[in-house]
Amino acid sequence: MSKKIITSLLAISVASFVYAGGFNTQADKDRKALQEYMEKKFASVKNASTFFPYSTKEELEKNFKWGLKGADFNLGSYAYNKGGKAQRDDMMEMPPFEDNIDAGKELYEKKFANGKSFKDCFPDPAIRGDYPKFDKEVVTLASDINKCLKDNGEKPWKVTKGKMTDLQAYFANASKEKGKKINIKIDSKEAAEAYERGKKEYYTQRGYLQLSCANCHVQGAGKRVRNEYLSPLFGAVTHFPVYRMKWQGLGTLERRIKGCEKNQGENPHKPGSKWQNEMIYFMSYMSNGLPVDGPDIRK
Ligand code: HEC
Repeated sequence: MSKKIITSLLAISVASFVYAGGFNTQADKDRKALQEYMEKKFASVKNASTFFPYSTKEELEKNFKWGLKGADFNLGSYAYNKGGKAQRDDMMEMPPFEDNIDAGKELYEKKFANGKSFKDCFPDPAIRGDYPKFDKEVVTLASDINKCLKDNGEKPWKVTKGKMTDLQAYFANASKEKGKKINIKIDSKEAAEAYERGKKEYYTQRGYLQLSCANCHVQGAGKRVRNEYLSPLFGAVTHFPVYRMKWQGLGTLERRIKGCEKNQGENPHKPGSKWQNEMIYFMSYMSNGLPVDGPDIRK
């Protein structure tokens, strides 16, 4: 057999192996492994020294909450960092994003110049957990909102803040009230490939610090960088758009990723770019099945 035929046979068998049982088989395996890793890491202070060799016993016993499972991780670093959680709980008594949800509802109902409204594009507002979708390319909530605007002759919005976060806050809140979950689908070969590209980027070391997202949010989850505890990838997308004290306002996941890339010492990719959208597709799949609970508050 010629070399060319052998290689193409190999390629076929690899492809059918990867997709056997459905296009989301690999992603599901990844998600389960990630959940298991995080639950093990935060199971008990007893085996903490294997995962946190640089933390003192006192810090781990006093400042950390243990025995975390499933949706506990929606709280990001506050899932285990008791001090940060207490501060967040205080602020949640009068959530600083209430006005944004109201403004988002108004935007949802307001008529465009052509007499239609967002209601025509999104009859049910409880859709936060269904994004990103895949339709020839990754479709994020932000890109679908902008598509609706453009289809109706309106100007698209900035994807990081402003009206975009108000409308998303309304969608997130409506989803939370209905008990919706993160529900990402990978149902074609092209979708699985987009997921794999997003995953690869998440694990790629970059910037002058040569760090990957995973260095900080998988292996690094639970460790401290300067004054901040690092949040786990598992549960990382459920609460967006998020109110950040640093921003004094709401921001999308796109905005947050851009900030993290900057901190990595990297010239960040554009919010809403194919690169970011595929990253968001991967990250969202990692939270599949967790309840939508945005907006929330972070430092
Ligand atoms: C040097 C470590 C570091 C790297 C590398 C890093 N981050 Fe972060 N990231 C942080 C810190 C610190 C915070 C704020 C504390 C927290 O919530 O983890 C944060 C927060 C976040 C949050 C918000 C979590 C929440 O609960 O709201 C997201 C999402 C995020 N990072 C995504 C990324 C992505 C995607 C990458 C790669 C492009 C990345 N980060 C790379 C340090 C890092």
